Amino acid sequence: MTDIIAKKKNGEKLSEQQIRDLIDGYVNGDIPDYQMSALLMAIYFNGMDEDEIYILTDAMKNSGEVIDLTDIKGNKVDKHSSGGVGDKLSLTACPVAAAAGVKIAKMSGRGLGFTGGTIDKLESVPGFRTDIPMDEFKANVNEIGLSIISQSEEIAKADKMIYALRDVTSTVDVPALIASSIMSKKLAMGSDAVLLDVKYGDGALMKTKEDAENLAKLMIMIGEKNGKRTDALISDMDQPLGNCVGNSLEIAEAIKTLKGNGPEDMFKSTVEMAGRMIYLGGIAETVAEGERIAEEMISSGRAFEKFREFIIRQGGDVNVIDDISLLPVAAVKREIKGKDVGIIDKSQIRHISALAVGTASQICGAGRTKKGEKVDPGAGILLNKKAGDTVEPDDAIALLYASDEDKAQEAIYKLTNCWDYIKIK
Ligand code: URA
Repeated sequence: MTDIIAKKKNGEKLSEQQIRDLIDGYVNGDIPDYQMSALLMAIYFNGMDEDEIYILTDAMKNSGEVIDLTDIKGNKVDKHSSGGVGDKLSLTACPVAAAAGVKIAKMSGRGLGFTGGTIDKLESVPGFRTDIPMDEFKANVNEIGLSIISQSEEIAKADKMIYALRDVTSTVDVPALIASSIMSKKLAMGSDAVLLDVKYGDGALMKTKEDAENLAKLMIMIGEKNGKRTDALISDMDQPLGNCVGNSLEIAEAIKTLKGNGPEDMFKSTVEMAGRMIYLGGIAETVAEGERIAEEMISSGRAFEKFREFIIRQGGDVNVIDDISLLPVAAVKREIKGKDVGIIDKSQIRHISALAVGTASQICGAGRTKKGEKVDPGAGILLNKKAGDTVEPDDAIALLYASDEDKAQEAIYKLTNCWDYIKIK
């Protein structure tokens, strides 16, 4: 291991055998955290080339269970988002694509920080089961085209261990490590094609468009070398996606979007993402045709019906899907007016920091600060006004749902700093 660390410290390329030994040794406990930490930092400074990244991904994929989806008929398409505030596209794009005939067998995570992950959002529907057995998962995909379950501890074990170490050694923001981490899990899931949504902006891991594009290129290279159709969308995460941030709030907004009456940006992003999934799944010959089919799935009501079927299949309370007012709501509700954030004349909002809204939502109880913490399914923030909207001092610009009064106060304090506006005539 000391030779491997020294080689990378000197900017040299690691051999295939060295990379495979490194992953095996770390998973079986022969390589201690302090040596792996030193290597991660050397990779931070000197990077890895494409061959090294490809082998690292393969070794991490094979460090755990690899799912075989060959007995599911049809083209299986997976999607992955590098994460953002209010990003609920798995809840909308997957049912749209499944309604068009794409097969989606998806594992998702619980969130750490900001709001919960897709699994936390789905669990805000009473009764919804995210830990179903593999046979049931595959049967669901075969029969209705869609199933989403929580990330198994057995998938890409090395990634889980290395990610935990990266988190505490300031080595998360390393393109080679992010690309191999994400793709090792996607490849282990066994789909035929992968669509990546790489976000950039103040609420995302990648801060600039250029960094997001470079990360996307690396992941596409890994996917294609593995014989998977792989594509990426690059999207802006400067302000939250849609108007809702928080678990049940995001379910409600996803339902509205699937019924065709959600926010404009959610509709556009859903069609864009589902359109590409439909194209990657071989149902459309071009992305434009895929997008047209996606729009049709929404306008015909088939996308919402697919979502409903998916919720019922996994034990969720269908009454809540048919009447979103039955979704859980946090104990304390507060309205934030224009004047509360300093607006004293008619103004136009220029920017809302996604990072600040995400953090405020987490404070409300929608996200975790520690692994394993419970989230409040009904906590979060509803933004009535976003960039470009006109606001009067007495307009309610946001609604905040918090688990208790202290959390509400702290979140309001955080939120009041996140509005950027100019006075207009
Ligand atoms: N998401 C992942 O799964 N891995 C990373 O390294 C970063 C984001």
